[in-house]
Amino acid sequence: MTENTKEQKGKFIVFEGPDGSGKTTQIKLIYEYLRHELTEDIIMTKEPGGTEISNKIRQILLDPDNVLLEDLTEVFLYAASRAQHVKELIKPHLDQGFYVLCDRFVDSTIAYQGYGRGLDVSLIKKLNTVAAQGLQPNLSFYIMVKPEIAMQRIAQSRSFDRLEQNEISFYQNLYRGYLALLEEDDSKHYINGEQTVTEVNEDIKKVLQKKL
Ligand code: TYD
Repeated sequence: MTENTKEQKGKFIVFEGPDGSGKTTQIKLIYEYLRHELTEDIIMTKEPGGTEISNKIRQILLDPDNVLLEDLTEVFLYAASRAQHVKELIKPHLDQGFYVLCDRFVDSTIAYQGYGRGLDVSLIKKLNTVAAQGLQPNLSFYIMVKPEIAMQRIAQSRSFDRLEQNEISFYQNLYRGYLALLEEDDSKHYINGEQTVTEVNEDIKKVLQKKL
């Protein structure tokens, strides 16, 4: 498990994975589970978003009309949204001893904009170390589904935002990116997202029971 600054009393737990991985269902289930298991307070949040200002940036990022949005602009907007989110919501809660569960964080930008869109991964890492004030998740769960399955699941859901209009090659690169990130340290945990909701949930709980 990654350790942050001395003042941080709480734990920062992040859920990652491609669209269609079932990550959002899982974070909600784990939130309910931990609320009953822990004596500490807990909040659940998401990126891009989490605060009023970050949500305004989210609207620009997801708007299907923004076809002219440049890749680099996108990277800066995710970092800007994150800087606000960390400063206004995440850090203050961690400093007070909360458990903070977050749907996506820096690794989403590395996987989507870096590996997916082909932007410089080292630049994204540097920019986001600044945006996140060096904050790293204590624990991350990568709910992984193969690109073909992710695409099938997305096609079955009715709404398509700007970011869900991508080719299979984008999802293949994204998947590769997540696998590369998983290798980086042992605070990141691979979870097979192709199982049933209950099985995925049990796998996450097993890791939590061991690590927390
Ligand atoms: P959202 O509707 O919240 O989807 P999900 O439930 O899958 O998280 O939209 C978030 C989209 O933003 C999703 O397609 C992934 C993308 N994204 C990036 O491309 N880079 C990032 O840094 C983040 C946080 C999200």
